[in-house]
Amino acid sequence: MDGNLTQINGPLVRAELTEACIGEQVRIGKLNLMGEVIGREGNIALIQVYEDTESLILGEKVEALGHPLSVELGPGLLGQIFDGVQRPLLDLVQISGDYIPRGVNIPALNHDKKWLFEASQNLEMDSIVSGGMSLGTVKETELVTHQILIPPNCSGTLIWLAESGSYTLNDPVARIKNEQDTEELLYLSHRWPVRTPRPFNRRADAIAPLITGQRIFDTFFPLLKGGKAAIPGPFGAGKTMIQQQIARWSDADIVIYVGCGERGNELVDVLESFPQLIDPRSKRSLMERTILVANTSNMPVVAREASIYVGVTMAEYYRDQGLDVVMVADSTSRWAEALREVAGRLGQMPVEEGYPAYLASRLAAFYERSGRVHILGHEKNNSDPSGKDPARNDQGSVTLIGAVSPPGGDFSEPVTGHTKEIVQTFWALSKELADARHYPSVSWTESFSEYVSVTADWWLENVHPDWLQLRTEALSLLSQAQELMRIVNLVGPEALSSEQRWVLEAADLIKEGVLQQSALDEVDSYASPEKQFLLLQMMLIIYHQGESLITLGMSVQALKELPLLITAKRCKSTYSSEQTENLKQFIIQIKSDFQKYRLEYTQEFL
Ligand SMILES: Nc1ncnc2c1ncn2[C@@H]1O[C@H](COP(=O)(O)OP(=O)(O)O)[C@@H](O)[C@H]1O
Ligand SMILES: [Mg+2]
Repeated sequence: MDGNLTQINGPLVRAELTEACIGEQVRIGKLNLMGEVIGREGNIALIQVYEDTESLILGEKVEALGHPLSVELGPGLLGQIFDGVQRPLLDLVQISGDYIPRGVNIPALNHDKKWLFEASQNLEMDSIVSGGMSLGTVKETELVTHQILIPPNCSGTLIWLAESGSYTLNDPVARIKNEQDTEELLYLSHRWPVRTPRPFNRRADAIAPLITGQRIFDTFFPLLKGGKAAIPGPFGAGKTMIQQQIARWSDADIVIYVGCGERGNELVDVLESFPQLIDPRSKRSLMERTILVANTSNMPVVAREASIYVGVTMAEYYRDQGLDVVMVADSTSRWAEALREVAGRLGQMPVEEGYPAYLASRLAAFYERSGRVHILGHEKNNSDPSGKDPARNDQGSVTLIGAVSPPGGDFSEPVTGHTKEIVQTFWALSKELADARHYPSVSWTESFSEYVSVTADWWLENVHPDWLQLRTEALSLLSQAQELMRIVNLVGPEALSSEQRWVLEAADLIKEGVLQQSALDEVDSYASPEKQFLLLQMMLIIYHQGESLITLGMSVQALKELPLLITAKRCKSTYSSEQTENLKQFIIQIKSDFQKYRLEYTQEFL
């Protein structure tokens, strides 16, 4: 279906296209620009264009492609860097140099490469197969075995399955006969429309924390595998750094990083730093289990709108293989700005600060694509009566983490406000902490996690039964300290009792020895759950021991001068997660030192 361009308004154009439906992809003009129909007015289609519309002229041809924006899903995704509409960036650069011309159309995945396909042993010929079942596997990278899935909306009788062997994405690997008795060929890859969530069997309860190795998150404001989190923070507070730390250290199988371009040079940073990161578990390149989506600077703001959906669809695809996927989006504010720009040009009524009324529902619908699920195609399996496919998990998860960059760091603006209502984990970054070089600058008063009680069960089983108690006590000390500081600022330190001054010292121990964690320090960058627990336990033991010495008459000044306080604060970067035995030894040492002081003080009294 072709039509003609009737109006050009920046990234929004109108064309006479009588039959194109909303969501349909179009190609525009001689330059063949990519766009999408986002509205209709009679015979006129409203189109958002993903590429710069400069030099388009009225009357140019617009072609409707008959399908919505979709992505190609199959082996070869991992390690790739895609632009916002899933074009492989490095191939684009190779074809056309640093400045990427418009209208370039290249496939997302390499169709010449041969993959070693291992046909499934669980499928019987002439049996009924359905979406989500695995036809076999391909070892996509050293780290990831890729399940070749029957597309979700496809079912029928399996009449042919290729033997194990080498195949390209163009070679069929199975044939099924569907209910209409027509035959359909299946390949190593399939396409899926990005704005339609991929179906699953049913939701499962999220029960396991996503371990990020970052103490302020795992110990204080935990996130679950399958959960949703937001990182709001002003410019320079450390959002990108935190997302990179999560990408690098979290115990997910797959990481998808969507760079919704803050500024061009930040993107360059990510593109340069990621390929150099080493996966801590396998010591191989992190890119072997990572996909980057990056909007190029010559794509207009509306292209960012698509990139989030491109990312989350790939995340769901790996979830459907029974894997745990983390997707980080940096930042959702830039995405919301794309909505605002389009709404403005459409002349829609702005509701809050220029954002359209559907901002909240769009944000909610995006975060709704997170979750832990029972995957499709696992419930019916022919060869195993238990219905389990032994080659893969019956559950997978997508964890979504979105950065939010409110202008001026004002959390009352609409994107932060709505996001806060939607997510269950909220990691609020504070300008004061960042200015004081307290990193990660996560505020312990403004952040929250609704997952604490679920996580407590995990810690109880896997690390220590006291986790919840220590966490609660530490947060209480921090808030007491904050209250006391207010008094100090009003009437001076003399107003405080010895016990109160010791609370201030204890809060400093927790802040410096536990909460502050340098991403740039090799030892401190990651802390295992056990190390996190021991550090927190250490600080609270020091607090309680000191408290009892104060009742015996020891001065706070004398306590503050104990060398073990400094040693304790440094433990985080002295002992790695493999050296928790040393931490335990040090805790024993602390207890015996305090025992000594206690004896001295009781003797002084005698
Ligand atoms: N965990 C951290 N450890 C050490 N330095 C950090 C940490 N987080 C942030 N920083 C410092 O703050 C700077 C800005 O962080 P960045 O993530 O780029 O902020 P944002 O994305 O919020 O604008 C970083 O370049 C780094 O110097
Ligand atoms: Mg940033």
